[in-house]
Amino acid sequence: MRLPNLLDHETLDEIIEQSTAWQSLVQLHCNPNTQLFLCSVFAPVCLPNLDKPIKPCKSLCEEVQSNCESRMQQYGFPWPEMLRCDRFEDNDMCIKPHNAASASNGSQNFALNLKAQALGHNPVCKSCSQASTFENILDNFCRASVVLRARVRPLNETHIIVRKGRSFKGPTFDRKRTPAHERLVKISDVNSDGTPCPCPITKGNFLLMANETDNGQFIAKLILPWKQDKNFKSAIRRFRAVDCTTLGREIRESVLRQSYKRKVPNYY
Ligand SMILES: *[C@@H]1O[C@H](CO)[C@@H](O)[C@H](O)[C@H]1NC(C)=O
Ligand SMILES: *[C@@H]1O[C@H](CO)[C@@H](O)[C@H](O)[C@H]1NC(C)=O
Ligand SMILES: *[C@@H]1O[C@H](CO)[C@@H](O)[C@H](O)[C@H]1NC(C)=O
Repeated sequence: MRLPNLLDHETLDEIIEQSTAWQSLVQLHCNPNTQLFLCSVFAPVCLPNLDKPIKPCKSLCEEVQSNCESRMQQYGFPWPEMLRCDRFEDNDMCIKPHNAASASNGSQNFALNLKAQALGHNPVCKSCSQASTFENILDNFCRASVVLRARVRPLNETHIIVRKGRSFKGPTFDRKRTPAHERLVKISDVNSDGTPCPCPITKGNFLLMANETDNGQFIAKLILPWKQDKNFKSAIRRFRAVDCTTLGREIRESVLRQSYKRKVPNYY
């Protein structure tokens, strides 16, 4: 990589220190190209025969900013001056957004989408392809009106029925007490051509987060298999105690706690 980088950091230590805070943004998965963009400014590639740095394209910057800025503001980080997109331009040499990522229209699970695309399917629904990171799970928890550990049954292409749901937030769903139509959850956003997006639901328990609309319909925001890995478990443990008004601090602290243990994105 090239030093100083595009942010005028001169040493590797400085870069590691400064980039740590940004890992929370990568972990929020607000845009699939966030890491590519941050790497291109923190650790610009160095080509032996080129004396100019290779910058991110303006379009890459704008794509990330448009998806992430409102989430960042919500957590008390404004979009920094040093990353203003008018500092960059679109030209032959710049780092372009990853197309497959952009084409997935907000779906977060790259691998799942590439597979769906390879099979000629529509991209997987956003709610069914959320990233299982501490930060993304807590962010969705704070913004959802219903959070359940649920057993579900697919009803048709667009809806599932919750058979049983232990509530972390909002109502409990119980087959015996709640009529089936009140346990319906819409999973499918519709693609631009009107076809529903696929959502592979199998047997077992799920972490299900949904929003309730004014007419009482539940719309899924996040459906993840009930996993037992470390990030998943620590996010679930935080549900009881998280203060959603200070979530930004919580997310940043989690990054500081984890950053040197976790496999750090390949900046260096
Ligand atoms: C993504 O969204 C845009 C605009 O909403 C739409 O034109 C495009 O077809 C969508 N792409 C896919 C792969 O669904
Ligand atoms: C649920 O709805 C609220 C209010 O409309 C919105 O602010 C929030 O972002 C939604 N939650 C998710 C997880 O999208
Ligand atoms: C699936 O079932 C729900 C509830 O009965 C209904 O509202 C929805 O239109 C159905 N979707 C399809 C694609 O048939």
